Amino acid sequence: MIRLSDLGIQPLERSETIPSAWYTDAEMHDFDEEHVMATTWQCVGHSSQLKEPGDYVTATVANNPVVALRDKEGGVKAYYNVCKHRGGPLATEACGHLRKGVLQCQYHGWTYLLDGSLRGVPRFDRTDLFDKMDFGLTSIKFAEWEGLLFVNLDDEPDPLEDQLAGIRERIAPQQLGTKQFHSRVAYDIACNWKVYVDNFLEGYHIPLVHPELATMLDYRNYVTETHPNYSLQHSPLKGENNLYSTDRGEVFYYWIFPNIMLNILPGRLQINRVVPVAADRCEVIFDFYYDDVTSPEGLKTIAEDLDFSERVQQEDIGICEHVQRGLASRAYDRGRFSVDAEEGVYHFQCLLKEAYRQALEGQD
Ligand code: FES
Ligand SMILES: [Fe+2]
Repeated sequence: MIRLSDLGIQPLERSETIPSAWYTDAEMHDFDEEHVMATTWQCVGHSSQLKEPGDYVTATVANNPVVALRDKEGGVKAYYNVCKHRGGPLATEACGHLRKGVLQCQYHGWTYLLDGSLRGVPRFDRTDLFDKMDFGLTSIKFAEWEGLLFVNLDDEPDPLEDQLAGIRERIAPQQLGTKQFHSRVAYDIACNWKVYVDNFLEGYHIPLVHPELATMLDYRNYVTETHPNYSLQHSPLKGENNLYSTDRGEVFYYWIFPNIMLNILPGRLQINRVVPVAADRCEVIFDFYYDDVTSPEGLKTIAEDLDFSERVQQEDIGICEHVQRGLASRAYDRGRFSVDAEEGVYHFQCLLKEAYRQALEGQD
């Protein structure tokens, strides 16, 4: 499935893109889930969604249902969102509040406290050798960074803080932790998750795919900075009266390996998570956060912002779905990179090869 010869890393000037089979094979989808998505920090929400004990957010990480919740002590805990009786679902909404301060399974009604311990077990009096202590929820590693809530299915992940080093200082005085959740939009897209990520990581496609956006950004001077586990794209602005007009400050497009994007504008944060669904499908979740989610002016800005985001997203979806078909065709295996404009894509593909190499070495 993965040939060692495909894991070699060449300088950008000489490198080929990754093989098309990595975007199309069902086995590669499983491999990515197990060795990439299940071993990396995945952003599942924001502290503004967990104000009170019992508030929760749910997510699917590497095909596993997870829930993160505010506990009684004011901390956050994350668990597999799976009942220990026969696998039923616990929290069922994208975010919400747990009534009576317990997680109740929606199948036969077992209840769990916020610390994950099993409490209520209806009609189990006659079951022998059953100890509730053995049936607590399975917890998941959790970390909060700048108000963003991350989980990692790995038992011994590298610290999140190390992975994101430098972002906090770079975006100051912008602060992510004080933003308020506004809304979520999710898109089901007929492409591999890596097609969507590749596309996010370059501004090369802006003139042809996003003509409206091209009038706002000086895409020829798009700058990509790469860091060990993330990259930053930054574009000088041009034109007037655009959403990103210069008097509103700097714009940062961060990508965090492997599938998280933080789009940071003054007063605004938009987080994208690209969730693999199948070799040729992904779901892209957009969560929108703002400093001001209540005033009439704030709401007007938000409405414009959502509208513009939707137009750009539809353009990206169209091209990504075409690319998936192209990658799956007999005509294509691998291509090359523009040194000027595709360093971010190259950087992602190098990190991916490194993750694959580590996974294969771990299997030996
Ligand atoms: S599966 Fe949860 S109570 Fe039965
Ligand atoms: Fe795009």
